[in-house]
Amino acid sequence: MTEGLEGVVAAATRLSHVDGEAGRLTLAGYAVEDLAPHASFEEVAYLFLHSRLPEPTERARFAQELAGRRALPRVAIEVLSEAAAANAPPIDALRMAVSLLSLGREENPLDDAITAIASFPTIVGTYWRFRNGEPPVPVRSDLSHAAHYLHQLSGAEPSCERARALETYLNTVCDHGLNASTFAARVIVSTRSDVISAITGAVGALKGPLHGGAPGPALQMVFEIGSPERAESVIRAKLDRGERLMGFGHRIYRVRDPRADVLAQAAAQFYLSGGDRRLYDLARSVEATALRLLRERKADRRLETNVEFYTALLLYGLGVPVDLFTPTFCCRARPRLVCPLPGATA
Ligand code: COA
Repeated sequence: MTEGLEGVVAAATRLSHVDGEAGRLTLAGYAVEDLAPHASFEEVAYLFLHSRLPEPTERARFAQELAGRRALPRVAIEVLSEAAAANAPPIDALRMAVSLLSLGREENPLDDAITAIASFPTIVGTYWRFRNGEPPVPVRSDLSHAAHYLHQLSGAEPSCERARALETYLNTVCDHGLNASTFAARVIVSTRSDVISAITGAVGALKGPLHGGAPGPALQMVFEIGSPERAESVIRAKLDRGERLMGFGHRIYRVRDPRADVLAQAAAQFYLSGGDRRLYDLARSVEATALRLLRERKADRRLETNVEFYTALLLYGLGVPVDLFTPTFCCRARPRLVCPLPGATA
């Protein structure tokens, strides 16, 4: 018996293809490992919106367009301030502010998608600053999307290496078939509703711990283990208690999640060139022990590292607070929203 919509074809897409048996992810015609670490975020967003990579002049124009839409409507800033005063979860604050992006604007799917892409980092950054009793960082239009996000959070201009690492992350997770939030968004636009409504619904779907919540617990496990020599006993005890190891296993990938490889490489590059080397070594040792013990316990089932394990390590290294892991995931491009489902039914 299938659960939910498992095995049900709801839509076909040219945007991404997930081959779970072979462990391959193709993004708009490019293998994730070729595209994500090399392209800029702006190039990937353009690729998804226009079905091809931009020429250099198109790229510059598109980057400028995104940068010009970073400032938030006044009412959105007020709502974020109120949300911070009420200690609302960051993902709730994001959902509230996103819904205000349509205020005073004509509906236009492409235009709305670009505005949403440009605004997300400012929304998350503004909220986080308020939440920490600090004023929001004034928007800068001379930074890339990824650098702008890190700048919004900390007020400091990030190094090229940090911005590149975040960019690789955002590119890696930009699209992945018809997951729950994408499905929610596509159902909404298929009723001929607008893109901002669809994105608001998608953020609501992502809030649920069954969808966007694994990186935090994956990092928690690494911290709980604390030192490589404790990995074996802590992980064995977890498995003995029937617990699942966060950051391992995948519903579709039956071999290693190709996104985990891209992010593992980005994490290695980042941590080995000035990050917290101790944490990196600890995470590698936790991963190796977890894989060994999972193979021992579940010999009949390949349980490999998934994208969340290295997401956690990379975002933490970049100084992104754990509470912002899911909102940061939202700062990627959301290409599907201009592509409604042919009908609202599965
Ligand atoms: N740790 C320990 N055991 C695991 C496991 C994990 N991470 N993932 C699966 N298993 C075990 C299950 O307990 C089950 O064992 P059983 O047959 O003895 O009951 C078996 O493997 C199959 O589990 P099932 O839930 O059918 O596999 P699935 O492929 O449908 O599950 C996930 C996919 C992602 C839900 C699952 O691997 C998981 O819970 N992972 C941890 C959470 C996580 O990292 N989520 C992010 C995914 S990107």
